[in-house]
Amino acid sequence: CGIIGYVGDEAAAPIVYQGLENLEYRGYDSAGIALVNGARATGGSRATGGSRTTGDVAPDVAADGGLTVAKRSGEVSNLTVPDAPDATCGIGHTRWSTHGPPTDANAHPHVDCAESIAVVHNGIIENHETLKAELGDHEFTSQTDTEVVPHLLETELSETAGEDAPDLRTAVERVVDRLEGSYAVCAIHADENRIVAARDGSPLVVGHGEDAAFLASDVTAFLEHTREVTYLEDGDVVDLSADGDVEVFAPSDDAAESLPRRPVDRSVETVEWEADAAEKAGYEHYMRKEIHEQPTALRQTLSGRVDVDRARVDLDVSLPEAFLERVEEVQIVACGTSYYAGRYAARLIESFADVRTTVEIASEYEFGAGRDPDRTLTIAVTQSGETADTLGAIRRADSAGARTLAVTNTLGSSVTRAVDDAVFIRAGPEIGVAATKTFASQVTTLALLAVALGRERGTLSAARARSVLEDLRGLPGAVQQALDAEADVVTAAERYCDEDAFFFLGRDLGVPVALEGALKLKEIAYDHAEGFPAGELKHGPLALVTDRTPVLAVLTEGGAPAETMTNVTEAQTRGADAIGCVSADREFGTLDVAFEVPDVGLLEPLVANVYFQLFAYHVANEKGRAIDKPRNLAKSVTVE
Ligand code: G6P
Repeated sequence: CGIIGYVGDEAAAPIVYQGLENLEYRGYDSAGIALVNGARATGGSRATGGSRTTGDVAPDVAADGGLTVAKRSGEVSNLTVPDAPDATCGIGHTRWSTHGPPTDANAHPHVDCAESIAVVHNGIIENHETLKAELGDHEFTSQTDTEVVPHLLETELSETAGEDAPDLRTAVERVVDRLEGSYAVCAIHADENRIVAARDGSPLVVGHGEDAAFLASDVTAFLEHTREVTYLEDGDVVDLSADGDVEVFAPSDDAAESLPRRPVDRSVETVEWEADAAEKAGYEHYMRKEIHEQPTALRQTLSGRVDVDRARVDLDVSLPEAFLERVEEVQIVACGTSYYAGRYAARLIESFADVRTTVEIASEYEFGAGRDPDRTLTIAVTQSGETADTLGAIRRADSAGARTLAVTNTLGSSVTRAVDDAVFIRAGPEIGVAATKTFASQVTTLALLAVALGRERGTLSAARARSVLEDLRGLPGAVQQALDAEADVVTAAERYCDEDAFFFLGRDLGVPVALEGALKLKEIAYDHAEGFPAGELKHGPLALVTDRTPVLAVLTEGGAPAETMTNVTEAQTRGADAIGCVSADREFGTLDVAFEVPDVGLLEPLVANVYFQLFAYHVANEKGRAIDKPRNLAKSVTVE
């Protein structure tokens, strides 16, 4: 889910709406906006009247009492921006459903009985049933866990009404301290141009504008307004006032001590991403733009980190020498595309650094019996740095006592605070739900790490390291060559887009690429696609092969091309067409379609992956799919 908030001196509605559009990759089941009606916002007094609603309000949550609430199931474009030029404070939400289907009523913001408090939430409130039971006579209108929050705030504010009435911030503090689970919550009250928010387990970042303040799940929501940001920490409550002042309050370090929180200074950082980096720049879809950005992204990933002559890599990670000498196992934990990047990297780490490397789906990860935490390095690979499954896994590794490292694209993300060290892949913002450029940059960063480990441990010779680093330097150009051949991929996509199913085959480093190729096609074309280690085809899946199941294969260096081709031929014998990504110096005359991969050694399967990305993209495009926002998915899944 995505959260955005704005308070300042401009009309809030268009800013919040734009923020929602920017955040839509985080969820697009439904969207909504709540605004403090300008006419009534007096900065404290409880005036009445002046309420306004829009046609988007679900019938059973008609806004009243000084807030304008507009919400709708479906994409952000379904939502009509409320016409409220006087409203200068507002919050918005774009949802990826967890509790309750994506209906109008379940869309955020949610309001209290008096409809003077509106709340948006990202995460899961595990004890919402218990809390709801306590709220006896409150009427609930949705099936969400979130709705308890505005009602709890209402109770807090009314129970202590009087001279020492708690203000919104105190009420939010009290309420969030009762929530179990994970949350970023953001609340407004009809009487004040002010936003109060809290985070624990879900991301929240403040943007500092001129006489204005922003709040969002991700900086891309407000990058066109400001690049000065403050990343909040778990437990923080933040208070944004009408003049753009931002105050952060953190719980006491002493766990035994409870409320109140104390004001804290959180640093202001400047985001390096340009606002237009998160825009489509003339491409029809973010995904195609991001596929084409790979040469640039890879150059950024490598920039300043490689010294070929000295056969050295500088990733700015402070892994102690003594630890590197004794390390016995590297564990990689990740989900989705990041998991496949981890599978690719694991082979490189084993081979260069001579250390056992395991890769586990984060949601399945346990530290494991018989391991020595003192000799284990656990690496979380995550583009967003916010994937709940991955955060859970790295925290389990940390509690077991392992040394932890994050490989992520996102500065200030939760994972960076959960680990001993973080390395950034520097791919720039990725908006398309299906990850593309970040896969290449993740593998590249991890390949650099593999070289660094190998050199530190004395297991990788300078000559071999130089050759790998040369290949890495050649990778952006090699990827560009694949991109230049896009027209051939379009022809193949047109030819095969109506087939029944697609099989992706590879060996060695080709296996994760085969798996990732199949995942792309599933995600955006909704086609049945499977990736296999090529040798396994004959042990079962071959039964599915027909003349309607094209086989796509990685036939490059690093992927045992001759052996893989044997398996491709087995499929061809059963009638399947074969599409192969082939090293420049090889030829497999019997392929139905061949894409050429320039010589970059063990990185060649990464170039094959670019062909697979383009193939998935163009098949999906032929079918008119919602490429950037595939059904049922979200880019950043912050629930387990
Ligand atoms: C979601 C996305 C995938 C992504 C995965 C892991 O499921 O839809 O594209 O690979 O999360 O995301 P992360 O941010 O941890 O790399």
